[in-house]
Amino acid sequence: MEINKNVEDDGVIFMSIKGNEESAETKDKDVTILAIESSCDETAAAVVRNGREVLSNIISSQIALHTVYGGVVPEIASRKHVEKINGCVRAALSEAKLTLKDIDAVAVTYGPGLVGALLVGVSEAKAIAYATKKPLIGVHHIEGHISANYIENKDLKPPFACLVVSGGHSHLVIVRDYGKYEIIGQTRDDAAGEAFDKVARAIGLGYPGGPKIDKAAKEGNPDAFTFPQAKIAGAEYDFSFSGLKSSVLNYINQAKMQGQELNQNDVAASFQKAVVQVLCDHAIRACKEYGMDSLAIAGGVASNTALRELMEKECAANNIRFYRPSPVLCTDNAAMIGAAAYYEYLKGNVCGLDLNAVPNLPLGDRERRYHANEKR
Ligand code: KG4
Ligand code: ZN
Repeated sequence: MEINKNVEDDGVIFMSIKGNEESAETKDKDVTILAIESSCDETAAAVVRNGREVLSNIISSQIALHTVYGGVVPEIASRKHVEKINGCVRAALSEAKLTLKDIDAVAVTYGPGLVGALLVGVSEAKAIAYATKKPLIGVHHIEGHISANYIENKDLKPPFACLVVSGGHSHLVIVRDYGKYEIIGQTRDDAAGEAFDKVARAIGLGYPGGPKIDKAAKEGNPDAFTFPQAKIAGAEYDFSFSGLKSSVLNYINQAKMQGQELNQNDVAASFQKAVVQVLCDHAIRACKEYGMDSLAIAGGVASNTALRELMEKECAANNIRFYRPSPVLCTDNAAMIGAAAYYEYLKGNVCGLDLNAVPNLPLGDRERRYHANEKR
């Protein structure tokens, strides 16, 4: 996959990702979807054909703007989305060499996420759907992350197990069918990515923590410290990362009080090992218990090198097919929203123009999410 990057005057990084176009030929029943994502700090637009071919994938990342504050500032995120969204949509269409006339539907993430950020994408998608009279498809952000796996793995079909680990979510899901999710485990407190971000801040690596811990851990000893595993008694598939995070923070405070020098790399590697081990244990056990022969990972934390390596090894040892998106498709992007939207389009799951942003939208409850009389 080829990524062309350009840092704009305001510090926002504009990326165009290429390499999944497949053939340029179009067939009569092809479905081409313009997808939009703006739930957090990435403004993104993509054109996706038949759910699995990415004709264009544009990401405008605000990470650099939020770094000085140590995390995403919702107000700044919303304002930047407003500034960037039209440019992203234009770039996505132009890279796909298409115009709005060639699009069959407009898809957008409408939750969960930051409400002000989501509203920008939802308003943009509604405006385009209204002006072009094309169907509007609302997509759940996590459903998008899971569907990122379809893009590079043409053979992947439900049912399969999926571990979704991002900045806001840690879910273990059985994907029963397209759009049908059974959540069998989730975090009781912090999400996995959140734990990475908090520990990175505590050891002085800064934001965003996940990639920084990943890099530092490569130079550290994962067995330097034994941090507790994020398990919960009596809830086999749930996670709890706040205990692990507190244990790392306690160690740091103690080391400081005793005047010991903190080895960032060793702490990063040992913390990462504890997280990755529990994610992998739960996922493999779930595959066995639920009779799943395929396991996918998704979300920002799925780009973690140690997680990918351990999952690969454990899946091979347990005869489970392992799927993971390229790192750039693990973190937020609109191609994954276009992939998820395709299967909703086939089912006729379209929304009305009263679609709203839903910051705490639950996964796996599509019937409740759509109102029957909104279909057109
Ligand atoms: O999926 P995502 O881009 O946004 C959300 O939907 O939350 O995930 C962002 C999260 C952040 O917490 C970030 O630190 C984490 O994913 N992350 C990583 C890595 N890359 C991103 N965590 C561990 N290792 C990485 N390489
Ligand atoms: Zn995400």
